[in-house]
Amino acid sequence: MQFYHEGNKLTAEQKLNLLVEFGTRVSGEIRLEKLLDIIAQQITTILDVGRCTIYLKDIEKNELWSKIAQGRGLEHTEIRVPLDGNNVVSIVARTGEIINLPNAYEDPRFSMDVDMVTDFRTHTMLAVPLKNNANKVLGVFQVANKADGAIFDKNDEGILTLLATLAGSSIEIAKLYQDVRVSQLETIYRLAVTAEYRDQQDTRSHLKNISIISYLLARALGMSAKDSELIKNASPLHDIGKVALADHILLKPGKLTAEEFEIMKSHTIYGGRILEGAHSKVLKIAHKMSLYHHEKWNGSGYPHGLKGEDIPLEARIITVADVFDALCQSRVYKQAWKTDEAYGYILSEAGESFDPRIVAAFKKIYPSVRKLYAHIAVNQPHTPVDTAETTTGLNSADSTETDEMFKHLIENDKN
Ligand code: C2E
Ligand code: SIN
Ligand code: SIN
Ligand code: FE
Repeated sequence: MQFYHEGNKLTAEQKLNLLVEFGTRVSGEIRLEKLLDIIAQQITTILDVGRCTIYLKDIEKNELWSKIAQGRGLEHTEIRVPLDGNNVVSIVARTGEIINLPNAYEDPRFSMDVDMVTDFRTHTMLAVPLKNNANKVLGVFQVANKADGAIFDKNDEGILTLLATLAGSSIEIAKLYQDVRVSQLETIYRLAVTAEYRDQQDTRSHLKNISIISYLLARALGMSAKDSELIKNASPLHDIGKVALADHILLKPGKLTAEEFEIMKSHTIYGGRILEGAHSKVLKIAHKMSLYHHEKWNGSGYPHGLKGEDIPLEARIITVADVFDALCQSRVYKQAWKTDEAYGYILSEAGESFDPRIVAAFKKIYPSVRKLYAHIAVNQPHTPVDTAETTTGLNSADSTETDEMFKHLIENDKN
């Protein structure tokens, strides 16, 4: 883009080329954080500046936020600025005006906060509003330090404003898309907690462990990050059918009779019914998982006694994650196994309960799995569950717990 520095004015053709390239790069990305990274990189190149920071409004918190790269740009730290503050970005976001500082450190509106965490010294700064098509301010594009040391001029203001205009709708779409994804995931986890909280000592770690193991297994099997994420996000729902089971069976503090176990088996059928005909990719996978997660490779499982590759892959994955985690946790009917014992059991069931390929993948990921379980106290005597208490409300999975679980999964989701 050096043509820009050869003169003050761009020809119409140069402008067009520049914008087409920018437009192409930003329009292909719907993941908000990746999109913001791409935009910031593009602007850094186009304007040849030391840094570009994009702030977005968080209406609920009345703040602006930005993820800024630290050090070698690998670590992203979130910074937040009050919208009603008196620093550059707050004023731009509030008023929609452009602010151009020839000497940042001498201006009272400049805040050194970002420089302090990034080891970057701002000299010149330009901040323009980011607006959507309806002219509503969504945030602020801010650049600092032109490579040639010059101050930002009207031409820079015009280009940055133009880029902000071009990026506005992409950013707005990515934000909406993220909101939808976040609320879908939240619904899934809250639903999963409903199914799990009665018979789990620790719903949060159970769902978390299972989703992490499923993800790692899918990756180790060579699946793409995207498909593995779907598996991870669907996995907490595998036991959703347990909502249909009566307490006297689910919470029986001992071995089930043969009759009771027959009833227990129906949680797979109920799960299948609950999720039947789902439209979204993630719920379609959850449907297969809930219906088939107790099928066994050798055909001795339930509900249908499917064998080998007749069992959907997603179900073969969740089975290994589910059994491993069930063994490691205590239940009303059993105590927790040691992690390595549970691992030994998984290996011993290759070709019997489990698909040997998935057991091989489990072998690969076991070092990570072992770390995940390192903090879990094993062989703790089980504290009897007070049925009355656990069934009156979400006592063992209150909203804080759910939120935390949810946050963890969202975070994973961004990687
Ligand atoms: P869960 O507790 O989540 O266990 C899931 C699966 O992990 C079990 O499926 C089983 O394959 C494996 N598993 C769990 N604990 C052990 C164990 O001590 N030894 C071995 N070899 N495998 C274990 P399964 O057996 O089809 O059971 C499905 C669900 O039925 C269990 O989910 C649990 O909720 C319930 N359940 C099974 N047996 C009993 C029992 O004796 N008493 C009670 N109260 N519930 C039981
Ligand atoms: C500001 O001064 O408003 C923000 C400071 C920065 O991002 O460098
Ligand atoms: C039972 O424990 O009653 C059923 C046997 C099993 O867990 O597979
Ligand atoms: Fe189950």
